[in-house]
Amino acid sequence: MTNLKTQIAELLHNQIPSLTIENIFEILEVPANTQMGDYAFPCFKLAKEFKKAPPLIAKEIVDNFPTSEFVDKIENVNAYINIYLNKSWLVEQILSPILTEKENYGFDNSKSKGNIVIDFSSPNIAKPFHIGHLRSTVIGNSLYKIFEALGYNCHGVNHLGDWGTQFGKLMVAYKNYSSKEIIEEKGIEELLRIYVKFHEEAKLNPELDDEARSYFTKMEKGDEEALELWKWFKEISLNEFERVYKILDVTFDSYNGEAFYNDKMTPVIEELEAKNLIEISEGAKLVRLEEDNMPPCLITKNDGSTLYATRDITAAKYRYDTYNFEKSIYVTALQQNLHFAQVFKVVDKMGYPWANKMVHVPFGMVSGEGGQSLSTRNGNILFLEDILTEAIEKTKSIIEEKNPTLQNKDEVARQVGVGAIIFNDMYNSIIKDVIFSWEQVLNFEGETGPNVQYAHARACSVLRQANLTTPYEKIDFSLLNDEASINLAKELGKFKSVIRLAGQKFEPSFIARYAVDVAQAFNKFYHDNTILVENASLKEARLNMVLATKYTLKNALYLLGIKSPEQM
Ligand code: ARG
Repeated sequence: MTNLKTQIAELLHNQIPSLTIENIFEILEVPANTQMGDYAFPCFKLAKEFKKAPPLIAKEIVDNFPTSEFVDKIENVNAYINIYLNKSWLVEQILSPILTEKENYGFDNSKSKGNIVIDFSSPNIAKPFHIGHLRSTVIGNSLYKIFEALGYNCHGVNHLGDWGTQFGKLMVAYKNYSSKEIIEEKGIEELLRIYVKFHEEAKLNPELDDEARSYFTKMEKGDEEALELWKWFKEISLNEFERVYKILDVTFDSYNGEAFYNDKMTPVIEELEAKNLIEISEGAKLVRLEEDNMPPCLITKNDGSTLYATRDITAAKYRYDTYNFEKSIYVTALQQNLHFAQVFKVVDKMGYPWANKMVHVPFGMVSGEGGQSLSTRNGNILFLEDILTEAIEKTKSIIEEKNPTLQNKDEVARQVGVGAIIFNDMYNSIIKDVIFSWEQVLNFEGETGPNVQYAHARACSVLRQANLTTPYEKIDFSLLNDEASINLAKELGKFKSVIRLAGQKFEPSFIARYAVDVAQAFNKFYHDNTILVENASLKEARLNMVLATKYTLKNALYLLGIKSPEQM
């Protein structure tokens, strides 16, 4: 309702010229109770300037308020000015732009606001792709779409964990416990098996660790045999990750992972030295961060090898040079809070003013009911695929039961099953832990993805039954004057400001909650009003409301990375 709100702010500005329209816009509230008006303006901040008690100021402004075609009533309650809008004007003001923008409602497709880099998913090669990576994938994908909708040009980066001592371990494990044939047959499952076995064996025989380290050093020095193996392990893992990305319909603009920075770190380390930020401690190089209440950031170990942070500092710089970003976002579990705080601080100490454009977006854990960990069952990617496949199968049997004649059952089951999982991950503030329960995830009636999708499908079905003939310019919106219609219109009108807020707070859950609100308002509207009535003007007005709802629901789901089947 941005537009509306601006118009109200302008009206008030005539009365309070000392505040800018933007200021007034910020102060204007939407009362939780509609009995208190559509907007409320608290006068507390004006006391100083007007040298009067706030309730008196409110009264004065109300008394002098000019009549306006779109304000029905204005009154003061204590220090508040309550504004009641003209309802048919309101509905028209909201629905017209939606019906003009159609499929684009809510989206600024200009890509004109600058570049945003979003580092998300970023699993580790030959290590488990765990449920945390799934969270990063769906949250990152949603933030990508939210910022695109806000007019930014987004670049999704999958910062693969494809470098580090784990590869040395894997090489030793491969030589000792596996073979080319078995790995070719079993893929990542076998890589995980031997990786786990390596850890067990190394506990008894620590020399294995030395051997692994020397293999990694070989890799860092460019040894051909070691790099050959590394490439092979990486391909095997990537193939399996791709399967999950395909199910989720997530893509990336870059797969430059940690290995990509291997040859770019030396100049950065030299720069840190030249800027006197490096201290040598027992042969290791580190940046002290005591002043900032953090432990030191390790840059190289005493054997000269680099670390996760070294690669992230290098990547930060590379990304700024490459994308000239407005923001560079990292989506990971909150366990990495310290890591990113350290990396951002080091970049800041290097004197880069863009250090404050880097943002870590942390999220909480996912656990099963009763708190058990979900990543155990081998802790592997197959488990993830299992969850997605199971969601699809369960959805299919629900559809078989509720709507056995539906066409494209498989595709719809896929869209709904996967959508349910995604939605569940983002319905609450992402910093919160998520409890995973099938009952909750696939509940078609609760505050769930399927429920929102169902409202959308219902809107589509109404629109299929009737032929919309009147263009919205000719619609008499004053006919939509019942409470449910007005409430639905108001919900629909909030979409843009919800997207803006979701972007400001890096919080896809705002979109998820909003989608539920719209679905509920629509269900109420649908329950209270017969849509296919005799009276043609009324029918057309209601159908246009349904159409506007359909666009809004579809676009909100899109921002979450969820599909909107037309029938289910
Ligand atoms: N690979 C890391 C992990 O699985 C996440 C990487 C996040 N991105 C980054 N630039 N550090 O924990």
